[in-house]
This record gives sequence, C-alpha cells and structure tokens, in this order.
Amino acid sequence: MNRDWANEQGAQTSKTPTCLLLKTDLSFDSFGYDAMEKYSNLQDEREEKDYLFFKHFKMTLHNEESLDSKTLIEAANGQPVKAKTVFTRSITFLKDEAIKVICQRTGDDHFSPDDVQWVLTVPAIWTPGAKQFMREAAYQAGVGSPENPDQLMIALEPEAAAIFCQEKNLSDFQAEVGSRPVDGILSQINTHYVVVDIGGGTLDVTVHEIQDDGNIKEIHKVTGGPYGGMYVNQQFETLLEEWFGVQRIQKFKEQHPSDWLSLMNEFEGKKRGKRILDDSLMTNIRLPRSFVSMLNETQSSVMDSYGTKDVRLKNKEYLCLSSGMMKKLFNPVVERIKQHLKTLIKKPQLSKVQTMLLVGGFADSAFLQQELKTEFARRLRILIPHYTTIAVVQGAVIFGKKPTKISERVVSTTFGADRSVDFIEGIHPEEKKFIADGIEKCGQVFKCFVKENSVIKLGQRITKSYHPVRANATSLKFGFYVTSNPKAQFVTDPEVTKIGSVKVQSPDTWRGKDRKIEVSMYFGGTEITATASDISSGNSAQTTLDFFCRS
Ligand SMILES: Nc1ncnc2c1ncn2[C@@H]1O[C@H](COP(=O)(O)OP(=O)(O)OP(=O)(O)O)[C@@H](O)[C@H]1O
Ligand SMILES: [Mg+2]
Repeated sequence: MNRDWANEQGAQTSKTPTCLLLKTDLSFDSFGYDAMEKYSNLQDEREEKDYLFFKHFKMTLHNEESLDSKTLIEAANGQPVKAKTVFTRSITFLKDEAIKVICQRTGDDHFSPDDVQWVLTVPAIWTPGAKQFMREAAYQAGVGSPENPDQLMIALEPEAAAIFCQEKNLSDFQAEVGSRPVDGILSQINTHYVVVDIGGGTLDVTVHEIQDDGNIKEIHKVTGGPYGGMYVNQQFETLLEEWFGVQRIQKFKEQHPSDWLSLMNEFEGKKRGKRILDDSLMTNIRLPRSFVSMLNETQSSVMDSYGTKDVRLKNKEYLCLSSGMMKKLFNPVVERIKQHLKTLIKKPQLSKVQTMLLVGGFADSAFLQQELKTEFARRLRILIPHYTTIAVVQGAVIFGKKPTKISERVVSTTFGADRSVDFIEGIHPEEKKFIADGIEKCGQVFKCFVKENSVIKLGQRITKSYHPVRANATSLKFGFYVTSNPKAQFVTDPEVTKIGSVKVQSPDTWRGKDRKIEVSMYFGGTEITATASDISSGNSAQTTLDFFCRS
C-alpha cells in the first residue's frame, strides 16, 4: 500500500485526488496533489493558457450515455480533450508510479509492467461500455494489451470491498470489539448482506450472499447514483456564492487560485470532523487573508439574514458555521443516499438482508453514519471498517489473487442476437418481410439470450440453436445486441444497440436447411464472447463483444 501521497500541508495519505494537469500539446505534466498545487500556483491567465487541468473527470464515464472513443472532457479552461487521452495519461502515471514504488521497496529495479498482475477497480454501477472504455484506456497506457488481456483484471468496487471485509475481524470495524471473524457474520445460513460504497462522486450498492464454499454470489443487480462526498463541498461553494456573490467568488478564484484551493482544503478538513454532531459547537473555517480583505470591500447582507447563531465571521479570520448550517450542506446528498437505500431495502429480494457494510471515503462521515444508523439500525447490523477509503483497494489485491471468489453475478442489461422467424400476417410488420426458399420470413427479430436481472455464473455459456433460412447458404452471419428493454422485439427497436457480429462458414449445403448452428454467449470474468459453431463441419467463429461496436 502506498501511503506516501503527500499533500500541500505535508500530510501523508493513502490516496491522491484524481486531478490531472496536461500541457497544451496533451503531454503529461502532473497528477494528484502535485497537479492541484501546480495549477493553483499558476500566476495569471496567460500562464494558465499553457495548461489543461482536469478534476472529477471520472464522473464523465458515469454520466455519459453515448460514451465512445470520441467522447470529450472539458478542461478547467473550457478546452475539450478526448476522454480517452485524459484516462490514458492518468493510468500511465499510476502505472509508472507503481513500478517506481515496487522497485524502491524490493530493491530490484528490473520490474516492468509486464511482470505485474494489474487490477483496476471500477464502480459496479458503470455500464459495460464504461468498463470496456477503462480497459482500452489501460491498454493504451501499457497496462495489459489486447494480446494479453488477462494481465489486467477489472474488479467491481463493491465486490472488492466485500472481499476485504470478509477477511477481517470484528475489531477491525468501528465501534465493534472482539476477534470474531466477520466472514462468519456475513455467511450465516440464509442471510444476505448489502455493500454500500459511498465515495467522492458515486453511491454504488450491491447485495450479496456468501455460499457454502465461501464464494460470493450477487443477489440483486447493482444500483446507485451520482451521490458522494464532493457534493458537500459543492454545496459549500454554492453557499459562499450566495453570501458573497457569484461574480465576486468567481473573480476571487481567478485572482487567487491557490488561496481558493487552500480554502477548499480547509473546508475539506473541517467536513471530516465530528463537531457537526454537537449542536453547541460551531465549525470554524479559517479564511485566507486575501479572502478576508475581499470581504472588507463588500458587505454581505444575505449572510446577515441567517443570524449570527448560524453563521458569523470571527476575528476577521474565521467563518464560523453552526452545526445546523453544516448539516444544511450535507443534507441534500445524505437525503438522496438515504432515500435510495430505503427504496432498495423494501424490495422483496432484499428481505433476507441482515447486515450493511459501509465503505468508501464518505462512509467515514460522522453525520452520514449517524443518519444511516437512525434510519436502518433497527433492521440491519451496520458494519463500518476503520479505514473506509482503502477497503476497495485492499480488497482488489485479494481479488487479484483469487478472482474466483466472485462466482455469480446478476446481469444488468438484456443480451440477445438477431434471428429470422416464419412471417405471421398481422403480427409481424410488412417491412421486415422477406422470402427465403419460397417461404415468407420475418427478419431482424431480437432473440433474447439473457434477460436483465437473471443470475449468471462466471464462465457460464448460454447457447441457442439456429438453422439456415436458405438451403444453399454457405456463410451465416449473426449480430449480437444489448438492450435496456427486456421486451424488445426487433433489433431495430430504439433501445437496442449492436455490440458485435460473427460470420461462420457452413459448407455442407447438401444437408439443406437441416444444418444446426449453435450460437452462444460466454460470460467470462469481465468480458463476454460470442461464438457461432456450425455443428456438421466443425467450423466456428468467435468475437469479443464490443460495447462501442458501430458497424
Ligand atoms: N471523515 C470523513 N468525513 C466526511 N467525508 C469524508 C471523510 N473521509 C473522506 N471523506 C470524503 O470521501 C470522499 C472520497 O471518498 P473515496 O476515496 O472513497 O472516493 P473515490 O473512490 O475516489 O470516489 P468514487 O468512489 O466516487 O469514484 C471525498 O468526498 C471526501 O471528502
Ligand atoms: Mg470509490
């Protein structure tokens, strides 16, 4: 574990913020705290023109529905850059940094990326397309390659977190004592548990059951949304704008970027405190001198309207917020998280859930914990590890060593392939009618292979039998599709997207239409492959399904 990410104040942390600074020719400049500091120290607009700064860009993959290799992300100065480039540069940095640390720690400087089994974690809630996007960005960064895909494993974050918790004892959890292994609690017969991962940008919730062999089975498909700790900071920013004026704050950011950053860092530190729970205590946020002198020039009447009990300036140095005011900043996102969990917990599929594992940085928030306990503690045992931010990373390492721990998953979208059926007058649309060997057929029908919410074992193959529609056809093509509509009828329906195709040679035309073709989808670790096999000739063709397939 690399605990040496140092921030401006010199503190060591186990994580560095996902911020990237590129030069205008798109070459790498810096990442994490270094990028934040360098960007905030740029003196003026002229200097800023030479750099592209990116923050919270991971959320693009969550929000972007039409994600592909051309998707753009805007830098802080508004310039659009390909998302692929931003992710590739970031992963390249992390890879180089990892190799550097491994070489230092082992004293062996011959390590190369090819010697490492890489595990990249992604939120489970991401679409298959976003997960594939990360894999491609990693390949471009030199982490694994299309020729050697196994060198890179994509782990789902809540699964990694669950694996981490499984390995721990009760005393590794907040407010718990004793050396009883948590595994025993999670794996009680006939019980399920829910993993709630709340990070900076995303809430990611999955429901698991531990099976007799100790492996984890997913019970309910992943749910969640864009709710995380960063929205509290955004809320603070909004409040400052409300009090002191949007334009004034904007001007301050431009004129004193590094002071703005330290103000935000100051807030970040205070946000993590426990004062918010005590109604008699104020949270004191130290203001940079430049900010105070800006205030002297202006007087905010909006701020007065709250009354000095809620907010006041102390000694021309501190902005003091009551615990009620602090809660106001937390409330919108905390309410969304609570609402999401409340709705989910009520579902019949979750009736056997007895434990809630709370992980991710925001899960460390004293206020959020209190709110979740008030809401759910009567029904569930809530377990929170001491280090909520690193549960995912450490779990990912365990997963890398034993990937088969995750044995079954609930698929979140419907998969299928195209097929032709006998045309039925009045049922099938005329425009899909064609004649094959004198028989009226309906083409472009969506044949469902796996419906959303069904459980798929890792390494499971789903096979359907096909026959040629023409007796003399020697080559047969099959298209594969995903859809958000489990009732889709035709591959041309609006919610249906093509994700690949295969063409298989079927030379034995003497058998006519009586040739059997087996078309299958194979659910591997993170990828799905599709195969068409012509049984009589033994020919087969295969493809890895591609969520950005545009053909
Ligand atoms: N003690 C704490 N109290 C309140 N918030 C905290 C605390 N510790 C960390 N956070 C918040 O947790 C968030 C970071 O969590 P984490 O490191 O799990 O995010 P991430 O994995 O980078 O983001 P995501 O999972 O959304 O992609 C930040 O918003 C941070 O402010
Ligand atoms: Mg996270």
